[in-house]
Amino acid sequence: MNTGNSEPKIVAFCCHYCAYAAADLAGSGRLQYPPNIRIIRSPCTGRLEINFFMKAFEAGADGVLVAGCEEGSCHFKDGNYLAKGRVNTTRQLLQEAGLEPERLRMVNVSAAGSQTFVEYVRDMVETITKLGPARHQKTTAKEQQGAIR
Ligand code: FES
Repeated sequence: MNTGNSEPKIVAFCCHYCAYAAADLAGSGRLQYPPNIRIIRSPCTGRLEINFFMKAFEAGADGVLVAGCEEGSCHFKDGNYLAKGRVNTTRQLLQEAGLEPERLRMVNVSAAGSQTFVEYVRDMVETITKLGPARHQKTTAKEQQGAIR
């Protein structure tokens, strides 16, 4: 439970073709969402490795959101399925490290899904705010990262 006043920091890995486009559309449509997320554009979520997620936590993220194309719509065929598997594996590693697996989440959104993207962001911020900061577990996450190299 977050008892401090700190705002959660959330890294959002967004694939270029859908999630990033949806985030961009949300911005141009002036849709409001919490400023807690830092978006990192990736060509495809399939490009994201487990250590990308672990490094985000190590760098101080309280939560990591992975946003890719809808299932069956990845521009690289099966990248979002690969990412889904890696996210699930990383969630297990987080749990073994004593970090709540809910801190890492994958969502799927179409390029036109600006409102959906905003709802995913709001829900993620709400979840991470309830969980509180993850900083006290950084060292363990770092150790976990070393274990998967
Ligand atoms: Fe969007 Fe692969 S191009 S998830």
